[in-house]
Order: sequence, then structure tokens, then C-alpha cells
Amino acid sequence: MTRISVKASENYDVIVAKGLLEDIGKLTVEVMAPCKALIVSDDIVSGLYRDTVESSFRKEGFKVEGYTFTHGENSKNLSTLSSLLEFAAEKQFSRQDLFVALGGGITGDLTGFAAAVYQRGIRYIQVPTTLLAAVDSSVGGKTAVNLIAGKNLAGAFLQPQLVVCDYSTFETLPTEVFNEGVAEAIKYGMISDYELFVMLEDGLTEGLLEKVIAECVDIKRSIVSRDEYDRGERQLLNFGHTFGHAIEKCSGYTISHGHAVAMGMVMAAKAAEGLGVAQRKCSDRLIEVLGKYELPVYCQFQAEELASAILSDKKKAGDMLTFVLPIELGRCDLMKFSVSDIRAIVELGLARDE
Ligand SMILES: NC(=O)c1ccc[n+]([C@@H]2O[C@H](COP(=O)([O-])OP(=O)(O)OC[C@H]3O[C@@H](n4cnc5c(N)ncnc54)[C@H](O)[C@@H]3O)[C@@H](O)[C@H]2O)c1
Repeated sequence: MTRISVKASENYDVIVAKGLLEDIGKLTVEVMAPCKALIVSDDIVSGLYRDTVESSFRKEGFKVEGYTFTHGENSKNLSTLSSLLEFAAEKQFSRQDLFVALGGGITGDLTGFAAAVYQRGIRYIQVPTTLLAAVDSSVGGKTAVNLIAGKNLAGAFLQPQLVVCDYSTFETLPTEVFNEGVAEAIKYGMISDYELFVMLEDGLTEGLLEKVIAECVDIKRSIVSRDEYDRGERQLLNFGHTFGHAIEKCSGYTISHGHAVAMGMVMAAKAAEGLGVAQRKCSDRLIEVLGKYELPVYCQFQAEELASAILSDKKKAGDMLTFVLPIELGRCDLMKFSVSDIRAIVELGLARDE
């Protein structure tokens, strides 16, 4: 078992091991007295794991309710949020109670945001069941839903009370969904951990899973502890995401987040090379490692539509937009560009190797 302590506006542990779902009630009473717990999950995860989680909470004296929504990015919106909040109110949840996000990043983002606004704030815990949620979205307290105008445009910062990552749940993940999480792990390698990048190049075996999750969580822990509210360094975690969110939006959210980030990281690497800011070429090894996990590397959208999607993204500050660009493998920098340069940068990002 690995336990990582996150120090932010709330301090909490991220516990990573196999078989934790059965003990989730016990792990939760270590940080709070039994109360009423609302287990939020999508329809796929609910069928697989809700019973185990419910009975573990009940055993420890929690009263349990369940809220299920249709899986997929198209549910991460204000209408699902509203239905979840109404459900909690109908079941008379109070501020002393608990929301439990059981699922992938969509469940975590939606439940976390619901927790931030329900009665001006209720406690929640994250129980990631995808690799992507384990290495990234379950830690750090960023919560959100999408608006029609773009990705994650309505959200809040709220740290969970606990993160319980039972990675035996990944055994039921389709390979493609598992690999979407590898894209985020590669991101951590690219921004700050060359050894992690090489480990992923060599192949992510079952035996390495806990170590890789722990490395990624530790990088996120350390960045979040210095910049919880995303005013500077935390933006490094957006490597591949400025382009990636634009790709997701252009696809009407039919391209998954992990796939969009994979293509977005290649665009960022190509842009860094085209702009002459990369000290060493890294797009070739990045493309190769993404290919190893059957992740897409080139998108089909045109510069014009991507540039306009980027301009609706929240990372814009006045006339400037920050990009995360790789300088070499294991090191990225934040660089600001004028919005008038975006189209040209996107074009550089779309360059392909012959
Ligand atoms: N808050 C953050 O810091 C942050 C960081 C990265 C990504 N995100 C967000 O995370 C979301 C993507 O997360 P995701 O890829 O986990 O998506 P997801 O939650 O939709 O999960 C992917 C699919 O896997 C299924 N699934 C989940 N766990 C399963 C399991 N154990 N077995 C079988 N099927 C399972 C789900 O039903 C879903 O169909 C995006 O909305 C993205 O914006 C947030």
C-alpha cells in the first residue's frame, strides 16, 4: 500500500493499493465520523462497484444513497449537476454529510463541483476507477462541468477529504480507456520526470502500476502544494491540454479527454520545435511512446477551428495566452503569447513528420 499526504487548503491522504474498495468504509472513518454518504457513479461503474462500496460504508455505520448518471463527457454538464443537487436535497443531505465520487474523471469532476456548491460546501472523497482519474483528476481539488462554450468552464477548487485508489478496478477497464490514463502519465514524464518517461517507454507492466500511480500523484502533490489555485506553476499540468481541450470541443466531445491530450501534447511539442524554444527535439520519442499505447498523435481538425476553440478556453488572460511547451524530455516551460499569434502556433503544432 502507498500513502501520499497532500498538503493544501485541506490536508488529505491518497491511498493506493489493490482491493481497497471493500475497506473504504473503514478508511473513511479514519478521517470522519459515520454520516450519510451519497455515492455518485455513472451507469457502467455503478453496476460494477457500487454494491461493494455501499456495503463497506454500511458496515461502518454510514447511511447510504446512490445517484447514477449516464456515462460519458456529454453528461458532465449543468443539467446533470442540477439533477444531482436536487437528488441530494430531496434525500435531505446536510453539510455534515458526504459525497463519494466513485468512477473516472467525469464522475470526480461532477461530484467535486456538486460538493463545492451544495449548501455552500459539503465534504467529498474521490474513489478513482480509471487510470486517468488515479494519476490526475482525483487529486488536487479542481472540479468542473462543461458549458456549451467550452470545457470545464464552470467549476470550483475543493480538495477532497480522502482519495482511495483501488487499482484492481482497472481490470474491468477497456484497454483503450486504460491507455487514455497512460497519456496523462506520459504528461507527467514530459513535464518533470524523465525517468518516468523512460519507464513508460519501456512498457507499463502490472507490476509497475502502483509505482507509476504513486510517481504521478507525488508530482501533482508537490505542484499543488506550491500553487493550489493555478496561478503559476500548476499550469504545467496543462501540458497538452490547451490544444487537447480545443480538440475535444471541435469533436463535440466524441474524442475522449485522454486521446485529445495525447494529440495535444504532440501539437505542443511540434509548436515548441517550430518556435525554436525546444532545446532538444522531443516530438519523435513522444510520438513513439504514445503509439506504443495505441494513442492517437495527429488530429483531423484545421488550424482555423482549433484556434477559435482555443480562444474560448479559460486559460486566456486578456490578450495573452499561456502555453506549456517542452524544452526537452522531462522539462516544460510556461510561455505567454499574444492571441494574435495563436493561429500561427496552431499551424506549427499541426506539422507532421514525413
Ligand atoms: N479535475 C482534474 O484535475 C482533471 C484532470 C484530468 C482530467 N480531468 C477530466 O477527467 C475526465 C476524463 O476522465 P476519464 O477518462 O476517467 O473518463 P470517464 O470518467 O468517462 O471514464 C471513462 C469510461 O470508463 C468507464 N469506467 C470507469 N471506470 C471503470 C472501470 N473500473 N471498469 C470499467 N469501466 C470503467 C466509465 O463508465 C466511462 O465510460 C475529463 O472530463 C477531463 O476533463 C479532470
